[in-house]
Amino acid sequence: MFKDLISTRELKPSDVTYAIKVAEKMEAIRDSGKQHDLLKDAIMASLFFEPSTRTRLSFESAMNRLGGRIVTSTGKGASSFSKGETVYDAIKVIENYCDIIVIRDSGEDTPLAALHATEKPVINAGNGPDEHPTQALLDFFTIYKEFGRLENLNFVYAGDLKYSRVIHSNLYLASLFPNNHISFVSPKGLELPHKFYEELDHRGANYSITDSWDSVLPNADVVMIARVQQERFKSEEEYLKYKGSYVMNKKLLESKCKPEVRIMAPLPRVDEISTDIDDLPNAVYFKQVNNGVAMRMALLAIMLGKDEDV
Ligand code: NCD
Repeated sequence: MFKDLISTRELKPSDVTYAIKVAEKMEAIRDSGKQHDLLKDAIMASLFFEPSTRTRLSFESAMNRLGGRIVTSTGKGASSFSKGETVYDAIKVIENYCDIIVIRDSGEDTPLAALHATEKPVINAGNGPDEHPTQALLDFFTIYKEFGRLENLNFVYAGDLKYSRVIHSNLYLASLFPNNHISFVSPKGLELPHKFYEELDHRGANYSITDSWDSVLPNADVVMIARVQQERFKSEEEYLKYKGSYVMNKKLLESKCKPEVRIMAPLPRVDEISTDIDDLPNAVYFKQVNNGVAMRMALLAIMLGKDEDV
């Protein structure tokens, strides 16, 4: 089983299905309303140097549900990175305070640098625009719960494919399972970076690229929409050029999509999903949030070597 989680690129199908199996067991603990003692002797360092609501609170909630404790450092100015300390030095210090490190930073190399500085498990909670592996695992947990399978599915990944770390981590998982097809839909200028296509080609993955999503929606089982990642743009003007490129609403869903389509998003939502679909069974983004706590409980247990005690 994996000891660290930096990218979904290295994961095997059995890693994903095992994490899902453990997450399924964690659901009962999450819903029991009682604190479990599985991780009572463990401390998680929660290091978030970029904004976060869901990921940080979800990890901290997961740790609390399992009886663990948390030390935390958040906000850009909060760490000594802002004083010029290297990631290596910072982690060499922080490892003394904890048993597992969860880290989000704008630096794409930060999680790997952290990994090299410590023997303690490191979880990448978002490294700039590159990857967000725990979000992808909770997304695949959601897909498994919705469809009962991870293969034979048509994925549509739409929106800001250039900067969406969530889509980047998801596409590696989608390409792990047989007979999946991915349609990438993005406005010109926000295409998926080349390195991801290279890896998909290397895997022999089945995918196509288009800027017209009307043509790919009718076959979709899973539609995942990435908001335009405003914080990655140099100017407001540039952002406004792309804002609202793809919007899912009730009319489009009912006229173009299969009845069983699932609309997914990591949230936050800006304008890419209309609230008029929130109450439809197709909209699963709030379920993703709940599944995320169970998946993060599973990942913490696995990486702290306690998964067999659940
Ligand atoms: C995502 C992120 O931070 O990358 N949010 C999350 O973790 N749920 C997606 C986003 O910000 O668009």
